[in-house]
Amino acid sequence: MGFCHKENSSSMLQLFLLTCSCSCFLVGFCTAIDTISVNQSIQDHETLFSNKQKFKLGFFSPVDSSYRYVGVMYNLPVMTVIWVANRDTPLNDSNGKIEISGDGNLVVLDGKRELIWSSNISISVVSSSAQLLDTGNLVLRDNSNGRTLWESFEHASDSLVANMKLETNLNTNKRNILTSWRSPSDPAPGRFTCTIEPLEVPNSLVWNGSYLYWRSGPGDGHISSGLPYKKYMYKNGVEIVSDSPGNAYLTFTLLNSSIEIYYVLNSSGVLQEKVWSDEKGDWNVTRFSLETECDVYGKCGPFGSCNAKGKPICTCFPGFEPRNKEEWVAENWTSGCVRKTPLLCETNNSAKEDGFLKLKKVKLPHHLKWFRNLIDECRSQCLNNCSCIAYAYNSNGCMLWSESLIDVKLFSSGGADLYIRLANSELGNKKYQKTIIISTTVLSFLIILLCVYFMWRFSLKYKGKMDTRYPTEKILKDDVKFEELPLFKFEILSNATDNFNLINKLGQGGFGSVYKGKLLNGQEIAAKRLATSSNQGVEEFMNEVEVISKLQHRNLVRLLGCCVERDEKMLVYEYMPNGSLDAYLFDLHKKEILDWHQRVIIIEGICRGLLYLHRDSRLRIIHRDLKASNILLDEELNPKISDFGTARIFGGKEDQANTIRVVGTYGYMAPEYALQGRFSEKSDVYSFGVLLLEIVSGKKNTKFYDDEQGQSLIAYAWKLWNEENIVKLMDQVIYDPKMKAEVMRYAHVGLLCVQEMAKSRPNISTVLSMLSSEIVELPLPTQPAFLVSCSASETEPAKISASKCSINGITLSIVVGR
Ligand SMILES: *[C@@H]1O[C@H](CO)[C@@H](O)[C@H](O)[C@H]1NC(C)=O
Ligand SMILES: *[C@@H]1O[C@H](CO)[C@@H](O)[C@H](O)[C@H]1NC(C)=O
Ligand SMILES: *[C@@H]1O[C@H](CO)[C@@H](O)[C@H](O)[C@H]1NC(C)=O
Ligand SMILES: *[C@@H]1O[C@H](CO)[C@@H](O)[C@H](O)[C@H]1NC(C)=O
Ligand SMILES: *[C@@H]1O[C@H](CO)[C@@H](O)[C@H](O)[C@H]1NC(C)=O
Ligand SMILES: *[C@@H]1O[C@H](CO)[C@@H](O)[C@H](O)[C@H]1NC(C)=O
Ligand SMILES: *[C@@H]1O[C@H](CO)[C@@H](O)[C@H](O)[C@H]1NC(C)=O
Ligand SMILES: *[C@@H]1O[C@H](CO)[C@@H](O)[C@H](O)[C@H]1NC(C)=O
Ligand SMILES: *[C@@H]1O[C@H](CO)[C@@H](O)[C@H](O)[C@H]1NC(C)=O
Ligand SMILES: *[C@@H]1O[C@H](CO)[C@@H](O)[C@H](O)[C@H]1NC(C)=O
Repeated sequence: MGFCHKENSSSMLQLFLLTCSCSCFLVGFCTAIDTISVNQSIQDHETLFSNKQKFKLGFFSPVDSSYRYVGVMYNLPVMTVIWVANRDTPLNDSNGKIEISGDGNLVVLDGKRELIWSSNISISVVSSSAQLLDTGNLVLRDNSNGRTLWESFEHASDSLVANMKLETNLNTNKRNILTSWRSPSDPAPGRFTCTIEPLEVPNSLVWNGSYLYWRSGPGDGHISSGLPYKKYMYKNGVEIVSDSPGNAYLTFTLLNSSIEIYYVLNSSGVLQEKVWSDEKGDWNVTRFSLETECDVYGKCGPFGSCNAKGKPICTCFPGFEPRNKEEWVAENWTSGCVRKTPLLCETNNSAKEDGFLKLKKVKLPHHLKWFRNLIDECRSQCLNNCSCIAYAYNSNGCMLWSESLIDVKLFSSGGADLYIRLANSELGNKKYQKTIIISTTVLSFLIILLCVYFMWRFSLKYKGKMDTRYPTEKILKDDVKFEELPLFKFEILSNATDNFNLINKLGQGGFGSVYKGKLLNGQEIAAKRLATSSNQGVEEFMNEVEVISKLQHRNLVRLLGCCVERDEKMLVYEYMPNGSLDAYLFDLHKKEILDWHQRVIIIEGICRGLLYLHRDSRLRIIHRDLKASNILLDEELNPKISDFGTARIFGGKEDQANTIRVVGTYGYMAPEYALQGRFSEKSDVYSFGVLLLEIVSGKKNTKFYDDEQGQSLIAYAWKLWNEENIVKLMDQVIYDPKMKAEVMRYAHVGLLCVQEMAKSRPNISTVLSMLSSEIVELPLPTQPAFLVSCSASETEPAKISASKCSINGITLSIVVGR
């Protein structure tokens, strides 16, 4: 309950008396006591509380200031002002009052009843009242019809709280921006503002006066890659939404109402994220916009890239040189860099075409043009237009740049790849240098490989006679550098994972356990300790790992290196902080984070990763154990397939083959693979289909029971399909009728993937075309293969032994040795 009372009063009696006097004063208006009505005022020593007492409205003085201001504050022990009324016109005594004026405005008056501040609505209303809501919004309403006349959320000060919208609408000329305080003791509008720009990819920008000071960077249309946010904290993350051309807004919602978060543009122009900490009794600054000098907009000028760890921090792009060498040396980088060799397009006299050079892990430059669904033609689109000087793409579209490239920053992890256009001669040199580096490293690598091999043979021979703890240690000196594939010492991995402590165990895959670790340099890794049963030789293993480590795709987890010592074989991967898809998808609370848009990104990402494994990489890898727990999520919840190539390491390199070793997971295995050990690209397609249906429905295939009849998810989907009600499959948590058509298409494609006959399933490139609506007419699915019931234990999903299952009613026994 909320009430008016003296700010410092604490005794119940006082409270009671005050509430009483308040009520008496307000005869007839006492139902809403978070409200100021006509003929009522709030004095300097009084405070208005929102209904659940989360926020309060009253007078305050900033630190080191004796002026009085009216503001909305969090009702917390630490003064946290989120909105100020009279920013420019402070009161110099404590005789101020908040009232509803005769014309219906909310006003602040001084002791002489002169107007200090007004909500300044132009239409005059007979009767209005102002209410402080539990969101922190102060709303002025017309009492006759309940219409909102004015609200503080639409006139932001320097803070953004949940459910508030920072907005720019060029069509209606409506803008809601954050304006910093002049200093921590002066709430007057300072020089910094934070706006949302409805560009093709909406950005949030911080300005220093009229100069751009910070830019969030282009995201994928929903999120921003510049501000690395933690999506899991919020219901929908911090979302920048552009729902019509010329309009964009930024907003966020709290997922867990017991965690309090808000954003503030502080008086030094830094956008801070603050989280309330009960233990500390204060706000924690969890992230902020200007962590390094490189975050300052255009620090290195056009065509320069900024690396906070570099010395100096600015470098020109490859193929570029400083415009003014003296300035550059004096660390004045503002004029940036210029091209060394003109482009073909510019001169039109060179025989050779221009090419592109890839800059990895960057914050993409400002001023881009964005094209949805042009991913595959992105490069040619850019090459064929003389004014295009760079391109980049992500799972949502293609980005092209035609002006200068400004505000590029290098990340140590994350970021995007940028392809910059260079004259052919600039590219040639680089390639030549690169081959030299590669060939020398390959050569030294081979020599070391041989040594390792002989040492290994040696250690085998003397096993039992000598206690050779770390036989390869002598060879793998620290100063040997492996550019291509680092070899990790067992000891290092053991230390990094606290001796493979169970606490660090991330999971159990089909081929061994995975542990989280932290190397001495602070890098986080995921180390997969392979089951020792493989009888492959070290050399064979290393070759295989080497080849697989070259497979790089944004939807595959990157292999960082390996370790072969004693009986141990380990693979070291990049660590994915958000864990695996199943942890989100099948968790009651976390699944909300994966809204439909995010799920589409995940499904398409997995599909692209799989397409790369099947088609685009030289190896034609069949994954054989595709499942939700093998899909990892990066910081921005992009999917990355893990455990690929492990099937190869364990033998079975043919495109389609029979194998006696069936490795896979109950519920995801195609029938021909589970029953006859026949695997092909189409058995991966089957697993993908199961995964797709799981992502759409948010339900596990194997843990799914429709009513009493123990049915699998596939069987349920098939039933809905036949009832022409497939849209019911959509996860209720994210249900949105607007997405109906897309959901139906996805479920349809899912059913096509899980058809019983391998040859009727589409291949993965067709699946991708079907999902992206390039193929409009989808064939009708035939009956899927689904396990009706199965006696296999689900506690150890990666391992199946002698399980009795029935497929479509025919009972079979599968004996699978692992
Ligand atoms: C406010 O006060 C004026 C004069 O004191 C009175 O005429 C008016 O009816 C009051 N309004 C309400 C809504 O009580
Ligand atoms: C306080 O402000 C009033 C005007 O609002 C002004 O007349 C008065 O002189 C000020 N007093 C001081 C001490 O500044
Ligand atoms: C109040 O609104 C009018 C126009 O509606 C505008 O001219 C005036 O500057 C505003 N005053 C304040 C203090 O915002
Ligand atoms: C903001 O701009 C002003 C004027 O251009 C400049 O003096 C000041 O240093 C800038 N502030 C920051 C933090 O860059
Ligand atoms: C909300 O946060 C609190 C405190 O951090 C935590 O104890 C609780 O489990 C969370 N609730 C949910 C639903 O995540
Ligand atoms: C603004 O935020 C930054 C980053 O948290 C902090 O270092 C700086 O001191 C803050 N400035 C003020 C005036 O509080
Ligand atoms: C706030 O920071 C302190 C340490 O400074 C930490 O112990 C605490 O867990 C943090 N709380 C939150 C809610 O982030
Ligand atoms: C840096 O160079 C620019 C452009 O040449 C010039 O205007 C500016 O004054 C220089 N800044 C400093 C700090 O020397
Ligand atoms: C470039 O040269 C070709 C002939 O080699 C000519 O047709 C074309 O118009 C020229 N383009 C420009 C932009 O000069
Ligand atoms: C080439 O790019 C420029 C700038 O992006 C654009 O205005 C122009 O229409 C493009 N030309 C073609 C033929 O696509």
